[in-house]
Amino acid sequence: MNRHHWWRDAVIYQVYVRSFLDSTGDGIGDLAGVRAGLPYLKKLGVDGIWLSPFYPSPQHDHGYDVADYRDVDPVFGDLAEFDRLAAAARRLGVKVLLDIVPNHCSSEHPWFRDALAAAPGSPERARFHFADGRGPDGAEPPNNWHAMFGGPAWTRVTEPDGSPGQWYLHMFTPEQPDWNWRDPEVAADFDRTLRFWLDRGVDGFRIDVAAGLFKHPALPDSPDPEADARTRDSVNPLAWNQPEVHDVWRHWRAVCEEYTARDGRERLMVGEVSVPTAREHARYVRADELHQAFFFDLLGAPWDDDAFRKVITEAMQDIAGTGSTVTWVLNNHDQVRTVTRYGEPAPEGSGLGAARARAAALLMLALPGAAYIYQGEELGLPEVVDLPDDVLTDPIFRRTGSRARIRDGCRVPLPWSGQASPFGFTSGAESAKPWLPQPEYFAEYATHRALADTRSSWHLYRDGLQLRSALPQLGEGTLRWLDTQPGVLAFSRGDGLVCAVNFTAAPVPAPVPGTPLLASGPCPPGVLPGSTAAWWIDGS
Ligand code: NOJ
Repeated sequence: MNRHHWWRDAVIYQVYVRSFLDSTGDGIGDLAGVRAGLPYLKKLGVDGIWLSPFYPSPQHDHGYDVADYRDVDPVFGDLAEFDRLAAAARRLGVKVLLDIVPNHCSSEHPWFRDALAAAPGSPERARFHFADGRGPDGAEPPNNWHAMFGGPAWTRVTEPDGSPGQWYLHMFTPEQPDWNWRDPEVAADFDRTLRFWLDRGVDGFRIDVAAGLFKHPALPDSPDPEADARTRDSVNPLAWNQPEVHDVWRHWRAVCEEYTARDGRERLMVGEVSVPTAREHARYVRADELHQAFFFDLLGAPWDDDAFRKVITEAMQDIAGTGSTVTWVLNNHDQVRTVTRYGEPAPEGSGLGAARARAAALLMLALPGAAYIYQGEELGLPEVVDLPDDVLTDPIFRRTGSRARIRDGCRVPLPWSGQASPFGFTSGAESAKPWLPQPEYFAEYATHRALADTRSSWHLYRDGLQLRSALPQLGEGTLRWLDTQPGVLAFSRGDGLVCAVNFTAAPVPAPVPGTPLLASGPCPPGVLPGSTAAWWIDGS
């Protein structure tokens, strides 16, 4: 019998902890805030939550610079608070995934400090990528790689005796030195971290930069460094997607299985995998590797039926076709929110982006596989596009001076209630200021308001999630494309469930007669209005 694995069609909610709910009044969300928000998430109907990194960190990249993998930063709480949160989630039946960052740590991690204090060639330096520079004085970086967040991927250190010294590799910021995964101590320490949190009862891990970890052993020059610099995606084939990384995922999977064998609870590992093709992606979710990997091509697709059809077809063939599950995602803490992304270049306030984002959500929830929702997505929050320069915290802005790719706009603290900032986000003094300013218009999106309005995005997500649980056609399985006119996508799932999306602005005939089960906007029988998606049961 084919046993059902809960994670194959799970819907997980990404909690960006510092922007979710602040229980202490310092303007920064925390673990106690997440615990207070659990009933809200339970009501929404998600299977679990993924918590962005809350470990001790100097926060140069908001926790993706980890100084201690086995503790909680005082800004977010402490281990006792983590345990309370985990226990509360378990009581509600909400799974908890932690964010593990194995490609790099913080320059304040004790092992990196040891490496700086130790000599070239020492075991302490072997845990990272230290190398001599090029040129007569070693004043040129060891190779021509670019860092993802701007600038060279190497920084030169001053040796303990004060002389200009070796260089270390950091594929992100200089405050995030890359681990050397060819050093067995690194792998062993991550084992300790996994077990530390699994012993505390977590249900799994979201794995940062899961196609990273190993670099080409010779650290050679990239043939096209400018191409590497043009994109944030992992395109430098010498720095990413090395074959050895799969051994790590096989080993981590075995650790998870060991815990499952003990208590029967299946753990889930989801990788942040940016690789060039769906076929390459599928290698990360083979049966003995990661359970899931975010399939970012849907997120990257423009609002266009052909583009959506192409990425969905590829994923179904190359990922689902090999027996894995596809993990769909439209938003996360690194991307411009769908409402804004799909709205451009429509005039502001036209509602077009919001309508399309709702339609895309209904499409995503109808696709076979698992899905991730980023906090605020269920409220239909737009990107905050006009944050002043002096409040921006994204290292991409600091390192490139450009606002083009900055990520602060999707990280503005959530509005919960009320008419003015902090909109119930911080429970502290009136004067408490959220760490990023919330625009006045966030009042319209506050959760209290959304819950009270049955036409809100929140209700659409909640209804979609309820139907996903109730209808056997949804969740795992396959899809069959239906013939449609240009600009429209329609597919059926299992026994008679049809999902259609109208990518155009004009109404089209609905593919199924009668009233839809659920629609992303007003949808009279027999018609699918522009920028709208709907689900029907085909009774014919
Ligand atoms: C991907 C994370 O999602 C992003 O926020 C972070 O900056 C980089 N990895 C580096 O850890």
